Order: sequence, then structure tokens, then C-alpha cells
Amino acid sequence: MPLFLAATALKRSPLSLFRKTGASGEISKYQPANIRQLLTEMFRSEGFTGKLPPVRFITHHLAHAAIAFYTSPFDKSDILIIDGSGENKATSGYIGEGDKLKKVFTYTIPDSLGWFYKSVTEYLGYLPDRHEGRVMALASYGEEDEEIQKIFSRIISLKKDGSYRHNPAYSFLGAHRNGKVFGKKMEEDLGPPRFKGEEISQRHKNIARAAQDTLEESVVSLLSRFKNGEGVSSNLCVAGGIALNCRMNGHLSEHPSVENIYLPPLPGDAGTALGAALLVAANLGFNPRFSLTHSYWGPGYSSEEVEAVLKKTKADYSKEKDISGRAAELLAKGNLLGWFQGRLEAGPRALGGRSILADPRDIKTKDIVNKRVKGREKWRPFAPSILKENMNDYLLNPFDSPFMGIAFKTTPKADSDMPAAIHVDSTTRPQIVSRDSSKKYWELIKKFGDLTGVYGLLNTSFNVNEEPIVASPEDALRSFYASGLDYLVIENFILRKGG
Ligand SMILES: [Fe+2]
Repeated sequence: MPLFLAATALKRSPLSLFRKTGASGEISKYQPANIRQLLTEMFRSEGFTGKLPPVRFITHHLAHAAIAFYTSPFDKSDILIIDGSGENKATSGYIGEGDKLKKVFTYTIPDSLGWFYKSVTEYLGYLPDRHEGRVMALASYGEEDEEIQKIFSRIISLKKDGSYRHNPAYSFLGAHRNGKVFGKKMEEDLGPPRFKGEEISQRHKNIARAAQDTLEESVVSLLSRFKNGEGVSSNLCVAGGIALNCRMNGHLSEHPSVENIYLPPLPGDAGTALGAALLVAANLGFNPRFSLTHSYWGPGYSSEEVEAVLKKTKADYSKEKDISGRAAELLAKGNLLGWFQGRLEAGPRALGGRSILADPRDIKTKDIVNKRVKGREKWRPFAPSILKENMNDYLLNPFDSPFMGIAFKTTPKADSDMPAAIHVDSTTRPQIVSRDSSKKYWELIKKFGDLTGVYGLLNTSFNVNEEPIVASPEDALRSFYASGLDYLVIENFILRKGG
């Protein structure tokens, strides 16, 4: 049984196994003997008395590459893994063909683009490993600043052959070290860091812009390494923690050598469990290839189960025959909806399984969603779900992007039709919704479009600020009543505040 399955049997993630070790040596806890011992103890503590199933070990970047390529629609592809660190690897290039994965290049720590971005995140007053998306959003407000860019070219230096080097003097990361992450040199060169809550100056925005530009340039320059290293495909798969940076992915997608790009719904470490399982499956002679067209793989609840919860909690609800039609009307009237349908989506983005939805036609909707539910900073963008049939109306050079992983430039029509879901620099990170993969959600947007002329909705995750996304009907009810949502649309039932 692979590690992934063993961990699942214990109802704990592989990552939690590593964390539980608490070993003083950061690297030694990842050693196979330690993991085997730990798994044995955990199986025993769960009452399992038989022989421990075989445990196979897969390297971190190979697992990232496996989920990126095996779940893609491509027979052959270049694969970029951009990470903080996995074992001692920071960035890797692979070529995938059929069910084979071949490594083309690797950068080891401290040459980590993840560490670089993380150190800037902390320098700008945000939590590293958590708030990198805020730096990316802030970058859109930044201006080009020659002095700052010069400093960044010393932090990440690009070589003629497409390589990069990260200057470790600017970050303070030992082997997998947590704690303060930007180095003294960053303070010396860029000046005092921003502290949490301090006002954001134009200089802070310019620093975010320079960091984002540096990341994008470094990653794009890596594409040429595939050419040197016999990569031949115009297809590109991307994964690793830094692949959550949708603006970087958008930049990659626009590169002339990239014809098609694919990001799995789980580009970060959560996806390595599936990647590892697919590799073991391939090793055992099974076909590991399947195209992931949707990410609704989490728990789902039947109508009867949902109604039982509603009855138990004495919620005041009604059952609707045309749930998508009724929800579309409510949205068009400016209501904020909690939308709970089918199975929970895997990955960090809400994709119409557990979403908060709003009418994107008025820019003020952003403030309303923030004030009543999310509590996010005013300047951070929201994103839309757009019907596949209408993507040309709203996006420049669009292509199917079902998992909200890629930023696109928007059309003037999008900027005027759905301003609440477009970022300040006329970009957005859309979910392209197909009827085949998400019928009820597709119908909702279609009916909203038929009512309003706008075939997109503002879609953000169904959670109250900083809480996990809701999974069960009970979770949804808790978040509904703890927030300023107007209605909860859960399977075929509708709840309204105040009865
Ligand atoms: Fe990773």
C-alpha cells in the first residue's frame, strides 16, 4: 500500500505524519526509516495488529510532476515544478510522454523562487507561506521603479542559458527553517520592512511589482532550458506551491513557445498525494493517465441528508423545483448567496460546489462581500465564473481554464459588465464553466445571464474570513448564520435570513 493510501486509512494526511515526528533535525524526519517507524506506531495506535503494508517512497517533485502530467490532456508535455523546497529541490523541469516522466533539470536550495517570494511576502508585512497571494495582488498597483528592480536583479540573477540564481544573503532560510525569512541584506538594500497593519505606500506596491516581475521573468527564462535539454513540446504543465501564482501562470501561457498550458486543480503540496499514488499505480502496471475535467471529488450529501440536517436545526427553508432559476433571480436582485451543491471541490479554489456568489455588475459588490462576509482588504480582487460559451466576450485569447489557476487579460466588455470581478489592471483569474463538468452551476450562470445580459458571476470560497471552506451542510449553516449572507442555496433547498 503506498504511503498515500496508508495515510488515508489513518484518516490523516501524509503531511501531518511528517509534522507529528517533531524530530529536532529538520531533514532527518523525512528519512524512510523514521516514516516507517511512525506509520507502524500509528497503525498500532488505531488498533491495527496485522503486518504493516508495504510503504513506497516518492520524491516530492516527481509527485508534483505526476499529478501535473498524468491528469493533463496532453500525450507529451514539458513540465515545470516551481516550489519552495521539496527534499532539497526547489525548481525542476521534466518531460512527460505517455506514462513516462524524465527529469531535464533541477535547482536545489537555496536557489528557490519560493523562498525568494516568501521572503518578500514577509518583508511586506504578510505571513510567509500563507499570504503570497496578497503580494501578487498588490503587484498590480505597483509601478516600475529602476532602483528597486536593480536590487531585485541582485537577489535573483538570470543567466544567458535560462538559469537563475537566488542570492541567499537576502533570505534567512536554512533547511526547511520556519521563522524570520528575509535577511539583513534585504533591509539594508530596500530599507525598513513594512510591519503588519502599517499603511501600504506606493513604494511597497512597487516592491511587490518588482518581486512579481522577477518571478515571472525567471520562470519564463526557464522555458529555454527545455529546448537545451531536449524538451520539444509546445504543451506545458505547471505545478508546485508557486504554481498557485495565477499571474505567473498567465505570463507563461502568453509565451510564444507555449501553445497549451495545464494546471491541475491541486498544484500545491496537497496534490502530491494523488501524484504519488499515480506513480505507484504506474509502477504496478496500471495506466496512471486520466484527464481531470472537474475537481468535485470531496464529500457530497443527498437531498435527504441535507433535509435531515435542516429539520434537525429547525432552519426555516423551502424546497424549489427550479433551484438555479430561483437563485439566478435572487442574485440579479443583489443578494449574496451561499451556494452548496454536489461534492466539495478539491483544491484551494471554490468552483461552484461550495461558493459564495454575487452579482458582479456593480463594483460596490466587492465592498459588500468584504463587509458582510470576507473581511478582506479593499484592494484585493475577486474572480468570476464565466460560461465557456461566453469566454471570448470577456477574456483576451481565452482557453479552457476550469480550475481558476490562470490570470487572463480582460476585454473592455468584461471591465464594464463585471467590474466587481476584474482586477485594477484589467486582468482576472476566471473559472471557465462547462456544462459537462458542472451542470447545475452552468445552468445558474446561464439563467443569470439570460436575466441580466452578463454571463458570469462573482465567485469566492464559501467560508468566513480565514476559516476553512465549508464541507458539510452543518458547516454551511454555521457560516451562513455567522455572516451577512442573504440566502443559503443548498441542494434544492433555500434558506433566508429571518424566515
Ligand atoms: Fe511542493
